[in-house]
Amino acid sequence: MTSQRILTGITPSGTPHLGNYAGAIRPAVEASQRPGVESFYFLSDYHALIKTDNPERVQHSTLEIAATWLAAGLRPERAWFYRQSDIPEITELTWLLTCVTGKGLLNRAHAYKAAVDRNIAESEEPDAGVTMGLFMYPVLMAADILMFNAHKVPVGRDQVQHLEMARDIAASFNHRYGEHFVLPEAAVDESVATLPGLDGRKMSKSYDNIIPLFAPPDILKKLVFAIVTDSKAPGEPKETEGSALFQLFQAFATPSETETMRTRFAEGIGWGEAKEALFDKLEEVIAPMRARYEELIAEPARIEQVLKSGAAALRAKYAIPFIARLREAAGLRLLDRIHAAPVDTQAKTKPQTKPQFKQYREADGLFYFKLVGGDNRLLLQSRSFVSAREAGQAVAGIKNGENYEQWGELAPGASDTGIRQAINALRAD
Ligand code: TRP
Repeated sequence: MTSQRILTGITPSGTPHLGNYAGAIRPAVEASQRPGVESFYFLSDYHALIKTDNPERVQHSTLEIAATWLAAGLRPERAWFYRQSDIPEITELTWLLTCVTGKGLLNRAHAYKAAVDRNIAESEEPDAGVTMGLFMYPVLMAADILMFNAHKVPVGRDQVQHLEMARDIAASFNHRYGEHFVLPEAAVDESVATLPGLDGRKMSKSYDNIIPLFAPPDILKKLVFAIVTDSKAPGEPKETEGSALFQLFQAFATPSETETMRTRFAEGIGWGEAKEALFDKLEEVIAPMRARYEELIAEPARIEQVLKSGAAALRAKYAIPFIARLREAAGLRLLDRIHAAPVDTQAKTKPQTKPQFKQYREADGLFYFKLVGGDNRLLLQSRSFVSAREAGQAVAGIKNGENYEQWGELAPGASDTGIRQAINALRAD
């Protein structure tokens, strides 16, 4: 049985936070340990260029995120772990896919449409500030996925449309060039809670409400104490429903610890005490990972080595042979194998395999015909005729066995036998 291929990309444009860990990293590391699963996790640094123009930030974030995944338990021998820009076949595939992607499809992308709507609302040109990188984002993402024929792609809800586009693009390519791509599916895990941030909204860099995963303990404590709560006094029963504090606790605690905390909420635990408990829980889970993280980040060359060897093995095993097959399918072929190449019988310009009479009119206004062999070599060249009808009658006569010499001349290199064989082949039709 072929294994299920799971693939997801992480864009290195920020610092990993608790929400990334609980929502993406932890489930991905767990999935990579299941039997029958082949996992592909990569740093989408080409995508980062669309989100930031700060080169140092891309580099730092790449290092931080790679170290985070390794510290969180990802084993490079159990999962493909690599950097998008180390696989040049992905960019090559992006172009092959670009050529089968309708511009109208990309016009409908949410991120692009939102930029246009914003511009219009501000009375700007619709495409002001929109780069082709932003516009083409879904095609690059489709290449990431289709390069390895992934079946399942765990993503956030905001990425579901991109998966639909990847399927559309794959289907267009398959339709044109044959079945090369698996149609990938988004896997949006409903059971993975989106963690709330400091202000109770979804934890997100764009809301400026994050708790960095590996903040030093004193900062972590400060941030935990900055989580918004209602103003109920100690002793008053507290709601777990809608409490950011409770949800964060639940994301890191066992089910039985969570139940104990639920009881303490009902019994009126003070917010200070609840925050202390959350901090202790986070520290317990995070501290060992943080120690590994700090070791890793102190040796960037080792991480570089992990990413480089991941990419090298992956290229050799999948990307290089697959792109060769796709190039072949699209017609980017070696010329020394031109006769060996498979022939598309649907093609409009069928390579000729039978002899043919070709009638035509020259610039002199007169009519001619010629007989060419199955290999396209000229066998007979007619003299001129004043009308197409006369030329046609001559052709018909030759086919009926009349002497061809009265109508034209043997071509240089052609023989009488060659012409007779060609005419016989035509009669056999
Ligand atoms: N666009 C994704 C995000 O911002 C990251 C990404 C890039 C990705 N390529 C991918 C995710 C391929 C899944 C598959 O979250």
